[in-house]
Amino acid sequence: MKKTVLITGACINTGVAIVEKFLSEGWQVVFTGRNCEKVLEAEKKYREKFPSSDVTGYAIESLIDERTVNEAAVDELFSELDRRGIFIETLVLNAADQGLGIKAFENPLTDFMKVINTNMTWNYCLSEHAAFRMKENGGGNIVFVNSNTAYRAIPDRIAYSASKSGQLGMMRAMALDLGKYNIRVNAVLPGMIKTDRWEKNPEFYKNVPSRFTPIGDVAAGEDVADAVWYFASHAKNTTGAELVVDGGNTIQLYPIIR
Ligand SMILES: NC(=O)c1ccc[n+]([C@@H]2O[C@H](COP(=O)([O-])OP(=O)(O)OC[C@H]3O[C@@H](n4cnc5c(N)ncnc54)[C@H](OP(=O)(O)O)[C@@H]3O)[C@@H](O)[C@H]2O)c1
Repeated sequence: MKKTVLITGACINTGVAIVEKFLSEGWQVVFTGRNCEKVLEAEKKYREKFPSSDVTGYAIESLIDERTVNEAAVDELFSELDRRGIFIETLVLNAADQGLGIKAFENPLTDFMKVINTNMTWNYCLSEHAAFRMKENGGGNIVFVNSNTAYRAIPDRIAYSASKSGQLGMMRAMALDLGKYNIRVNAVLPGMIKTDRWEKNPEFYKNVPSRFTPIGDVAAGEDVADAVWYFASHAKNTTGAELVVDGGNTIQLYPIIR
C-alpha cells in the first residue's frame, strides 16, 4: 500500500520540489496552501507532470489573526482525511512566515506574534493532530523544514530567527516524547535556496555562493527535498537530528576575499 505524506505550503518554491520528490517515489501526497485557486492550480500541475499520481491539495489558513492559530481548520483537515481513510505517515512542515520587513523594535508586537504563531504554534498544532494518528497506527515521522538562521542571525529577521530556533527546541522535545510511539521527529536546515526570491536578487546570486559557501553554491529545492526524503524514508534509527543543507555556509566565519 502507498504511504502518504502531508506537506505544508507546497504551491510554490521548495514545497513543490518536496511534493515532486515524494510523487516520483510513488507516495500519495496531500499538500496545503492558503489560497484555494493557487492550490487547485498547483494540484493540476502535479497531476499533469505525474499522471498516475495520487495528489490532493487543501486550502487551509494558519491563523485567524496574528494572535490566534486556526485550530479548527487543522482539526477539519485531519477529520476530512480520516473520513477519506487517509493516514498521514509523514508530516513535512515546510510552510513558513518569512517575517520579512520586521525591524528591531519598530514594528507592532503583533507582527512578531504572527511569525511565531505560524512557524511554531501552528506547526505544533499540525504535529499534535498528525502524531495522535501516528500513535494509533504504530508510528510515523515528522520533518521540520527549518533554517540555518536558527544558528546564525541575519539582519531584520528577529521574529523569523527566533521562530526557527524555537522550532529546533520543539523538534528535539517532540522527538524525545514521541520516540516511544515509534514516531521520529527531525529537521532539515537549509541555508539560501534558489527560489523566486533568490532569482529576483541578482547581487546576492553573484556574491553569496562564491564568497560565503565553501562548496560554492546554495541549495536548489531538490537538495532540500532529498534531505527531507532521507529523514522520511531512510533514517530509521535517527530522531531529534538536524541536517544542514547550506553548502557549508554555517561553518564559514569570514567571506572569501580573492
Ligand atoms: N528560501 C530560502 O532561502 C530558505 C532558506 C532557509 C530556510 N528556508 C525554509 O524553507 C522552507 C521553504 O522555503 P521557501 O522559500 O520555499 O518558502 P516560501 O516560498 O517563502 O513559502 C512557502 C509557503 O509558506 C506558506 N506561508 C507563508 N506564510 C504563511 C502563513 N502565515 N501561514 C501558512 N502558510 C504560510 C506560503 O503558502 P501560500 O501558498 O499559502 O502563500 C508559501 O507557499 C520554509 O520553512 C523556509 O523558512 C527557506
